[in-house]
Formats: sequence, structure tokens, C-alpha cells
Amino acid sequence: MKNIKKILAAVLAGAMLIACAACDAKDKTDSTPAESTASTETASTATADNAVAQAPKYASEGKLVMATNASFPPYEYYEEEKIVGIDAEVAALIAEKLGVELEIKDMEFGSIIGAVQTGSVDIGMAGMTVTEDRLKTIDFTDSYATAVQVVIVKEDSEIASIDDLQGKKIGVQESTTGDIYATDDFGEENVSRYNKGNDAVAALVSGVVDAVIIDNEPAKAFVASASGLKILDSSYADEDYAIAVSKDNKGLTDAVNAALKELKEDGSLDAIIEKYIPSEDK
Ligand code: ARG
Repeated sequence: MKNIKKILAAVLAGAMLIACAACDAKDKTDSTPAESTASTETASTATADNAVAQAPKYASEGKLVMATNASFPPYEYYEEEKIVGIDAEVAALIAEKLGVELEIKDMEFGSIIGAVQTGSVDIGMAGMTVTEDRLKTIDFTDSYATAVQVVIVKEDSEIASIDDLQGKKIGVQESTTGDIYATDDFGEENVSRYNKGNDAVAALVSGVVDAVIIDNEPAKAFVASASGLKILDSSYADEDYAIAVSKDNKGLTDAVNAALKELKEDGSLDAIIEKYIPSEDK
């Protein structure tokens, strides 16, 4: 069931440099001349110069604009009017370290990468999984969390393993890795895409779909707030979350990585994760 793409996705953040080197190598062989030039530059020692040449937009405007999709507890969700969660809190600390204000823009999950690419936002932070395909269009910072794609079914479902999903109706949040993997493995005709994870879960409750594939932590939150649902023991894919940054903004990637490193070293990243996902619930 696990295809090569999934295994690659799982090791990507740990081996980010190797992965990027691999992308560059691939670009050189099968991309347009313009792209080849860009990747040659990245691969050379010009990295430090790039960081200076590509003055990050966030610095000039005094704020760090983050795109997210705030229907993904405990990473991002609304508490009254405010977007809270692990990503919102980590981003606030990163902005503080960069000396700028954080502004969060809520949008559809499928719009985040485009917004990062075009520069209408500085970063995308949305429990976003590092994948080979996404690395072709945007850069990712170092990983700050790990996740697992899981399967939610009704408590009395006959679906007991991933293989039982064959031919069943699967609900997913559009454009997520759950969507991409389910479509790859079980076919377009068996996948129903919803705007929000919770809408997919509502479709499961009402019997429109037979299962939902989604990240483990939101899965726990959605199952806890519905009744008659369970998460299968066998997990579907292991993943790493990282922050998306435009390929034209290496300076910002470096700055965010430096901030993330400090937050890892001083324990504040762990403290935020522990606040939202207490160890005893893991
Ligand atoms: N980790 C999955 C992905 O990157 C799902 C992320 C969905 N995030 C959200 N904020 N809705 O595709």
C-alpha cells in the first residue's frame, strides 16, 4: 500500500538538504534552461549572496504575512474571532524573533501554495506536509512537527484496515496529502473532496462517505466532537510538517530556520506542542 512517494515524503524533512540536492540534480537534467540557471546558482556557493540579494518583503513592510487554513485543530482554528493553535503560536514567536508583526490570512488550503509562490503572503503555515511535488514549486523550512495520515470510520464500520478501503467512498480535505494519496491509491471516482476536514467528517457521520483520510491530530479533534466515530489503528502515511516559503525568498527561509532552531533549543516549540497536544493524549 505504501508507495515510494509516501516513503519519500516521510524522510524528506529529515533529509531536506539531500532532498533539495536531489531536486536540483533533477532540475538540471529535465528542466528549461532558465530553471537550470537558477538551480545551478542554488547549488553553488552563491547561497549567502542570494540571502542578501533577495531582501525579504517582510522586512520592508515590518510584518510577516502568513497564509493558513484555520479549520485544522490543534494547528489552526478559531477561538471566537481569533485564529489560535500550534502554528499561530509558533509563527508569532518567529515573527517576534524577526522583529516584525505577524498577520494571519485565512484561505482555502489549496490556495496557500499559490499565495506563497506569487508573494501575496510571506509564508504558508498550515500543518503543511513536505512532499516532493510541493518542493518543485516552493521551498520548505526545516520541519517543526511530525504527523500521520489516519483513517476515520464509523464505530460499527466493516472497514478494519487500509486494504478494506478499496472500492469504498473516501472523504478528504481538498488538495491535502490525504486527497493526493487517496486519489493515487483508490482512484479519482472513489474520492470526495471537501473544503474543510470537518465537512468530510460530517459526510462520514451522515453516511455520504465510508471513511475519511486526514492528519492524526485534527482526526482526534473531529472524532472527539462527533459521536460514533473511531480512528483505525493502522496508519496510512507518516509525514513532516514545515513552513512554505517562496523559492525567490531564500533570505526568509534562512531567517525562519534560524528562528525555528532557537525555538527548538530553548524548549518553546515543545512547550507550544505540549500545550495543544498533552503527552498523555499522544
Ligand atoms: N498535512 C496535510 C497536507 O499538507 C493537510 C494539511 C491541512 N491543513 C489545514 N490547515 N487545513 O496536505
